[in-house]
Amino acid sequence: AEDGYDLWLRYQPLEAEAREKYRPQLRQLVIPGSEQSPTLKAIEGELVRGVGGLLKRAPGVSAGVNGDGFVLVATPKASRDVRAQNFPVHKLGEEGYLVRSTTIRGHRGTVVAANSELGLLYGSFHLLRLLQTRSALEGVSIESRPRIGLRLLNHWDNLDRSVERGYAGQSIWDWWNLPDVLDPRYTDYARANAAIGINGTVLNNVNASADSLTPRYLAKAAALADVFRPYGIRVYLSARFSAPVEIGGLDTADPKDPDVQRWWAHKADEIYRLIPDFGGFLVKANSEGQPGPQDYGRSHAEGANLLARALNPHGGVVMWRAFVYQQDNPEDRAKQAYSDFVPLDGQFDDNVIVQVKNGPIDFQPREPFHPMFGAMPKTPLMMEFQITKEYLGFASHLAYLGPMYEEVLRADTFAEGPGSTVAKVIDGSLHGHQLTGIAGVANIGSDRDWTGSTFNQANWYVFGRMAWNPQTGAEEVARDWLKITFSNNPVVLTTGQDMLRDSRQAVVDYMTPLGLAHLMATGHHYGPGPWVSDLARPEWNPAYYHRADKNGIGFDRTSEGSNAVAQYADPVAKRFASRSDVGDDLLLWFHHLPWDYPMTSGRDLWEELVHRYDTGVAEVREMRAQWQSLEPLIDAERFDKTARLLRVQEREAQWWRDASIAYFQSVSQRPLPEGVAPPA
Ligand code: GCU
Repeated sequence: AEDGYDLWLRYQPLEAEAREKYRPQLRQLVIPGSEQSPTLKAIEGELVRGVGGLLKRAPGVSAGVNGDGFVLVATPKASRDVRAQNFPVHKLGEEGYLVRSTTIRGHRGTVVAANSELGLLYGSFHLLRLLQTRSALEGVSIESRPRIGLRLLNHWDNLDRSVERGYAGQSIWDWWNLPDVLDPRYTDYARANAAIGINGTVLNNVNASADSLTPRYLAKAAALADVFRPYGIRVYLSARFSAPVEIGGLDTADPKDPDVQRWWAHKADEIYRLIPDFGGFLVKANSEGQPGPQDYGRSHAEGANLLARALNPHGGVVMWRAFVYQQDNPEDRAKQAYSDFVPLDGQFDDNVIVQVKNGPIDFQPREPFHPMFGAMPKTPLMMEFQITKEYLGFASHLAYLGPMYEEVLRADTFAEGPGSTVAKVIDGSLHGHQLTGIAGVANIGSDRDWTGSTFNQANWYVFGRMAWNPQTGAEEVARDWLKITFSNNPVVLTTGQDMLRDSRQAVVDYMTPLGLAHLMATGHHYGPGPWVSDLARPEWNPAYYHRADKNGIGFDRTSEGSNAVAQYADPVAKRFASRSDVGDDLLLWFHHLPWDYPMTSGRDLWEELVHRYDTGVAEVREMRAQWQSLEPLIDAERFDKTARLLRVQEREAQWWRDASIAYFQSVSQRPLPEGVAPPA
C-alpha cells in the first residue's frame, strides 16, 4: 500500500523505459569486506533492495569485478581496483564520496569510493537517488562532501512518549520496552536519515527530564545507539542542568562547585562506557523556566564549560542553546539572546557550540535571520531550524520549508563585508571554525507516514539535503523529492513544484503577513489569537508583537524604538531601519507605521494587510485546485489524504483571514477596501 512509510527509500519499480536503460549498468555488486562490517553489510542490503525494487531485478553480489555493469563500492584501502583509479579521494574528507562511471580491466561500470565506510554509505544512497531521479549513470562523475560537521535531528520527545510540538503521533522511541525490544522502525529511521546525510540525533526533549541520564534510561539510549551505529548516526542527549541535584543527590548544580564538576565527569564516564561514540549534550538553560548557571550567578559560558569539561576527555560536544529571554526583562525579546551571549564571545571551551534559532523570536512563519549570526567570531554557532510546524499549521497545513531555510541560509550578515552569509557562518568558513553544526527539530512520530502527512516528509528531506550542503536550492530538492515520492510525470513535477514553492508564503500571508509575528492562539499556537493581550508574561501576548491601535501597527525596532536593528552589521542595520529599503516581507517586524502608510503596491497599509490575508486564502485555494488536477496521476491513498488535508487548510486559512481582519478592523476602525468580502 502507498501509506507513505517508505519515505525516500521508496523503491517501487521505475517506468519500463528507465528500467531497461539501467539494467545493463547495474548487474553486479562488488563490496569487498561486506561480511565483516555492519556498515558495508547495510550498504549491500540497501543496494540489493533498492536496485532490485527500482529495476525489478536485483544485482548479483560478487567478490570482484568480472564483467560490464558492475557497481564497486570500496575505499582505496580495501580495493586494489579502486586504488588503481587514482581518484582524488584526498578531497573527500572523512564523510565525502565520489560516484564515477569508469572502466576496470576492460569492464565498464560504476565506482562509489570514499575514505571511510560511512562515505561509502552516503555515496551508495546517492547512487540510488540517481536512479530514483532517473539521472544518467553513463559518464557520471560526482564528488560530494558535507559542508557541516554535525547534522542533527532534535527530538522534543518526552520519556512518556508525548512529543512537545509533535503532530505525528507519539514518540517513535518506545522507552517502556527498550532496551530489550528493538522496533524495526529504528533501523528504518537510521536508513532514512543516512540517506540524506544526517549523522546524529538528540533523543529527548530540550525541556529535559533528568531521568534521561539515569542508568535505566542510558541503557535504552545505548540500545538505540547500537542500532544507529552502522548508519553513522550518533546519539546525543538533552541534559537538564540541575541533574546533579535531581538524580545526583547534591544540593547544588553550581558550575563552580567541585562536587558538581565531579558529578558531571563521572556521568560522562558512565555514558561513554555504554555508548563509546556518544555525541554529547544539548542544553536549554535559563530559558522558559529551565534551570541554568544563572541560578547561581554564573554565565552561560561557565555553565556550558562545566559540561564541556566532563565530555572533553571522551571527544563529546556541548550544544548550548541561545534561545533565552527572561521573565520581567523589559528589553525587546528579539534582542535578549544577543545581549546575553555576544559579550561571552571567546569564553566558551573548544568543544562548545552555541545553537541559535534561525530568527530572534521563535520559529515564526517568517523572521529576519538571528542577529547573533556573524556577531560572535570566536564562537562556533550552529543553526536550529524547526522541521515540525509549530507555528505553521501543525501537520495538517501544507507548507514546504525549503524556501524558508534557503532564505535564512542565504541571508547576508555582512559580518565580514558582503557575502558573509549565514551559511558561511555555520559552515565555519567565515570565521575559521572546525566545529560546525545544524539541527532540525524533528517532525517525526509514530504515525505510519512518520510526519503526519506526505508533504511534511519533504521538510525532513530538505533539512537533510541543506544540512549536507547549505548552498543547495530549495527548488532543486523539491524536484528530487517529488520524483522520488510520486513520479517522474512532468505534470506531477511542474504542478508539485508550484505547490511546494508557494506554500510557505501562503501561510505567511494568511497568518502573519508583512513582517507580523506571533499572532497565534495561546499555548498550543494553533489558529489566530491577535486579540490576546492579558497573559502574565507580556512577551507571550500577540499584542506585544503587533502593537496595533487606532493609529497604526507594527513593532518599532529602529533607533526610535527598541533599536534591535543595531544588533545587525551596519549595512543590514541600515536596510532594516529604512522603511523603504526593508521590503514588505519584514516591514512591520521593524517598523510601526500609520494605517494609511503608502505601500509600493499603491495600496495603503491597511488595504495591503487585508489584501495579503485574501491572497493567502487564494493561494491555498489554488493549491487545492492544483492538487485536484493531479488526481489521475497519484495513487488513491496518498491523493485522498492530501486532498482532505488541503480542505482543512483552506477552511483554516479562511478562519485566520476572517478573524485577523475582524480584529484588526476593530482596532483600526477603517472601512474594508472596496470589493473585499466582510469577515464571516
Ligand atoms: C518554543 C516552543 C516550546 C519550546 C521552546 C524551545 O517556545 O513553543 O515548546 O520548548 O520553543 O525551543 O525551547
